[in-house]
Amino acid sequence: MPHDFMPGLAGVPAATSSISDVDGQHGVLEYRGIRVEDLCAQSSYLETAYLLLFGRLPSRSEFVRWTDDVTHHRRIKFRIIDLLKCLPEQGHPMDALQAAVAALGMFYPGRNVKDIDNNYWSAVRLVAKLPTIVAAWARLRHGDDPIPPRDELGFSENFFYMLTESAPLPLWAEIFDDCLILHAEHTMNASTFTGLVTASTLADPYTVVASSIGALKGPLHGGANEEVVVMLKEIGTADKARGYVEQALGSKRKLMGFGHRVYKVKDPRATVLQGLCQRLFKECGSSPLYDVALEVERAAADLLKGKPIYPNVDFYSGIIYDKMGISTDLFTPLFAMARVSGWLAHWLEQLRENKLFRPDQIYAGEHNRPYVPLSER
Ligand code: SDX
Repeated sequence: MPHDFMPGLAGVPAATSSISDVDGQHGVLEYRGIRVEDLCAQSSYLETAYLLLFGRLPSRSEFVRWTDDVTHHRRIKFRIIDLLKCLPEQGHPMDALQAAVAALGMFYPGRNVKDIDNNYWSAVRLVAKLPTIVAAWARLRHGDDPIPPRDELGFSENFFYMLTESAPLPLWAEIFDDCLILHAEHTMNASTFTGLVTASTLADPYTVVASSIGALKGPLHGGANEEVVVMLKEIGTADKARGYVEQALGSKRKLMGFGHRVYKVKDPRATVLQGLCQRLFKECGSSPLYDVALEVERAAADLLKGKPIYPNVDFYSGIIYDKMGISTDLFTPLFAMARVSGWLAHWLEQLRENKLFRPDQIYAGEHNRPYVPLSER
């Protein structure tokens, strides 16, 4: 029985899931029933990844094993490094990440996606190796050798070490880990849905994650965090913010980092990210981008009065990464290395009762047209 066509499948459930829930009217995000604010305050990214993947917080021994497994799988094959070396250095890091992740699966054949044990190790490898790939590309494109991971460093500390050859300030690692928690999962967003469509064909998890990375790259989705900082730098100073917003809205240009298909109030993650900005600035001094961002938010609230368009997760995140010296085009890869645990959680959940995604369409073309030979056209 045909269903009504909904552009962008807005409001159309594509799955039943117990991984996360968003209350768009009240600005609430829960991972497996736990508020994301509580996870930021008390958990770590790796523990949150376990929660998302396996449905509950790990016992002490389970967490030790999970942490050891991820730590010991951070290294990437030298062939992946060779692959990255062949890519154009001006290429976007999301393209490099997608290419490397797709290639990763070639080293781990035997992809019977119904094999629970195999799936565990696929999840371990992907959670463990995405940061290594992101850091390796960031260095290789400038002619620097990748820095191998150090097992004694934590997940976020090690990422900074692989990127900069030095461990970060403990506060930076803590704030970065909270950013990863905030970006780990978000119900049926475009990149998760993309991955599930790929997964529904029983493709392997490396291919599933590579397809999700492709969807995340777009500026309407994960790519917005990079666009926001480009916008804030273009505005330059807080006193120019209102004029920019007026001009953008007047020419029907979307404000990057604003609006959301589900949230009709301010994204709770944006509020947590503002708190992280304040903690970072207390230690390292403020960022002029933050002052511009506050003015953009004020002007948008005034000029968009009545429209439920508020800052989303992408509006403040890049300000933190920029203050930490991370280059702007790495912001969306950071989103991907966090969201990989959410993508994989949905992959594992769907495998239990998999059904190929094959929606219908409303045909708008013609019928029974004659073929006209080229000589008569
Ligand atoms: C993420 O889905 C998720 O959960 C995603 C995410 C996750 O964690 O996975 O939360 C991460 O992707 C956050 C969103 C990042 N993208 C951006 O910041 C790009 C800018 N935002 C917009 O492109 C937009 O808000 C979307 C894409 C996020 C949502 O768009 P919708 O739901 O398809 O709504 P729409 O584009 O049809 O807009 C509805 C109205 C329009 O006005 P009218 O034509 O009805 O008069 O709202 C307006 C739009 O013009 N509008 C905006 C706006 N977003 C919507 N106007 C100005 N600036 C904006 N940002």
